[in-house]
Amino acid sequence: MKNYKIAVIPGDGTGPEVVAEGLKVLKAVSQKCGFKYQTASFDFGGTRYLRTKEVLPKSAIKDLSKFDAIYLGAIGHPDVKPGILEKGILLKLRFDLDQYINLRPVKLYDERFCPLKGKTPKDIDFVVVRENSEGLYKGMGEFKNKGKKNEVATQISYNTRKGIERCLRYAFEYTQKNRERKELTLCGKTNVLTYAFDLWERTFYEVAKEYPDVKTKYTHVDATTMWFVKNPEWFDVIVTDNMFGDIITDLGAMIQGGMGIAAGGNINPKGVSMFEPIGGSAPKYAGKNVINPLAAICAVSMMVNHLGEHKASDMIEKSVINVVRNKLKDLAAGKMGYSTTQVGDLVVQHL
Ligand code: IPM
Ligand code: MN
Repeated sequence: MKNYKIAVIPGDGTGPEVVAEGLKVLKAVSQKCGFKYQTASFDFGGTRYLRTKEVLPKSAIKDLSKFDAIYLGAIGHPDVKPGILEKGILLKLRFDLDQYINLRPVKLYDERFCPLKGKTPKDIDFVVVRENSEGLYKGMGEFKNKGKKNEVATQISYNTRKGIERCLRYAFEYTQKNRERKELTLCGKTNVLTYAFDLWERTFYEVAKEYPDVKTKYTHVDATTMWFVKNPEWFDVIVTDNMFGDIITDLGAMIQGGMGIAAGGNINPKGVSMFEPIGGSAPKYAGKNVINPLAAICAVSMMVNHLGEHKASDMIEKSVINVVRNKLKDLAAGKMGYSTTQVGDLVVQHL
């Protein structure tokens, strides 16, 4: 029997509440599908930082790399200046564990929860493959004449052929293996970012030659946001850089029903991957048992799929769809018609 080692980082705000529901579902599905796992909890986050003045202990990366997967709740604390925890924990884990893909499915489960008029689940079912290790997130740049009238701030988008190619390859493989339509769209800005996206575009069409059964398309990022709203059915799989991927997946989350349902995976295909609800720590809802745990539960579905437990992953997704369609009044915090723990129980009952 398989026995997986899973590191759990509940994190801040509503993180621990949603993670508890995800683990409840994991326990139930593991019993039904016959696999075992062990969890170890790590207290990384704002509360620990305020107590210890240390964002991450030195051993964190080494410790986490011994696990089969990482399950993360949310990082972000109202008493900590923006940037410290994001860079010091979330981005550090993504970078140091070389999770170079951020995989974000955008799938509408029930048209009642779509803000777009007339769009149904058959119209909104695509996946964003976001490059997760380079671009503007690399942290390169500087201030010149800081604080003066002639101050200049630069922030460099750093793109390597190797980094782009491994991301594109993942996107082509993913499209070929997992999608019926087999259409991959490169989302960029070749008309303005004439260095970065020139390299992306050249590499895209070069790699495409190795995947003749995958249809390729290109859209500028601004047009992409327009199509997300007007014709989301045009998209099957989208591959894009780190910054554009960050932006378009928040819009993607909205058209699939909101942050309450959107999950993602930070993937290192040959290392340790980390799965998370893509929304933040929502401190104003913390401890109230009102936050929607479905995004965190969907993150568990992605995690077990990544571990090779495809049946368990499908069971979770089907149960979530069932609960979303037949039980919930709304996907927003406090409006679901059920509490956080009740929603977790419903998913377990419908497995
Ligand atoms: C996300 C978040 C992060 C990002 C922040 C918290 C650093 O917005 O996961 O999309 O920008 O990647
Ligand atoms: Mn984001």
